[in-house]
Amino acid sequence: MAVIAKQCPHVKVTVVDLNSARIAAWNDPDTDNIPVYEPGLGDVVAEARGRNLFFSTDVDKAIDEAQMIFISVNTPTKTYGAGKGMGADLKWIELCARQIARVSKSDKIVVEKSTLPVRTAEALKDILQFTGSGVAFQVLSNPEFLAEGTAVQDLLMPDRVLVGGDSTPEGKAAIEALVEIYNNWIPRERILTTNVWSSELSKLVANAFLAQRISSINAISELCEKTEADVNEVSRAIGADSRIGPKFLKASVGFGGSCFQKDILNLVYISRTFGLTEVADYWEQVIIMNDHQKRRFAFNVVRNLYNTVSGKKIAFLGWAFKKDTNDTRESAAIYVADFLLNEQAEIKVYDPKVTEKQIYADLDYLESRPAADNRELVKVESDPYEACKNVHAIAVLTEWDEFKDYDWERIYDNMLKPAKIFDGRNLLDAEKLTDIGFIVQSIGAKSITRKTVPA
Ligand code: UDX
Repeated sequence: MAVIAKQCPHVKVTVVDLNSARIAAWNDPDTDNIPVYEPGLGDVVAEARGRNLFFSTDVDKAIDEAQMIFISVNTPTKTYGAGKGMGADLKWIELCARQIARVSKSDKIVVEKSTLPVRTAEALKDILQFTGSGVAFQVLSNPEFLAEGTAVQDLLMPDRVLVGGDSTPEGKAAIEALVEIYNNWIPRERILTTNVWSSELSKLVANAFLAQRISSINAISELCEKTEADVNEVSRAIGADSRIGPKFLKASVGFGGSCFQKDILNLVYISRTFGLTEVADYWEQVIIMNDHQKRRFAFNVVRNLYNTVSGKKIAFLGWAFKKDTNDTRESAAIYVADFLLNEQAEIKVYDPKVTEKQIYADLDYLESRPAADNRELVKVESDPYEACKNVHAIAVLTEWDEFKDYDWERIYDNMLKPAKIFDGRNLLDAEKLTDIGFIVQSIGAKSITRKTVPA
């Protein structure tokens, strides 16, 4: 919404939330304190805030004033009842719809921005029509394709924008109203319009395809570790085929983030609901492979530390699910840490952007052990050299650029020997590190080590 406000100074954008602390943070005069760390976002907010971008807790007033309302609440995987662990929990969407219906005194266009299971628009429409006071509602689907860490760039220069709506004259007019907004900075040919269901499904399918590529290359990474092949070389070789393309072929410790797993589970759940067992099983395998990759990485650490990490110290470089974000949702680091803690390891974590509070919250959420044990066994460091001091091994969990430029000689000198690095992102220069004396295990390549131990 901040980018829309920046690009369309003639449109008044009001962002509302029930959480007053969060709204206060969005209104903080120092944009370094806004609640989301995202490169460039502070500048966007600084430019538009107070001009045509406002943050408020007065939800009813904002609904009343608006011609167009974007519903952008979270739709987590259900943790109870039917569809538990798979389907999306639409509680917040429904509450929004009921509030919009109750408050609206004029016609509104309601835009689904949250990622939703297919045919949610129908439910939204029902609630709006049956509980509203007779005003007309048009429901559009406008899924978001931005990736975290590059959100502002993705929004300023998207590959495409997708708008789904009804094919009635009113539906078409609503689609046009939203297309016009995006057309302020995005060429018309990049704004695709479809029916609502295609739009809703496209979002799930786009994420499923992207995640599938990662699981595919991660599956190959395991095979590479058993052979003389190197997964980076395989990626480069297959990515050069223009039909395959080079992106999203980076083998890793496993994908994380708020979208991939949730959206695939949703796709699987919808397919099962329609009795499409083979379709559901096919997509579920992407998740199964990803879970395997995380477990495999953690198990490899244990195996390489002589089959026990009990009482050993392991440094984690990175906790976020990818670089340039402080988001940790579904981050592979959480699951790798949990596995190693179950093996009685002690972990020292350094992440440039993730807070100590968040790291403990992520571990506590798993309920694998008492919260006090997490605080006892996991220490969060604000200095990477401290995190790596006196540890038996270092695991790279996030591909933060700064890790590449550390003084690795210094880290080596302060580590227990043999000094082992498990690079879950194939980020570091393994040759250089082995020259220093490290034993490096990357994803999808044989462990490399110097023939002679340095003096
Ligand atoms: C994703 C989609 O890319 C975006 O279009 C959608 O709107 C939301 O979901 P996001 O989760 O923010 O975006 O980040 P993304 O860059 O897709 O990375 C997801 C995960 O996959 C990260 O953990 C990342 O490290 C991992 N990844 C990505 C790989 O392991 N290998 C790759 O080649 C690419």
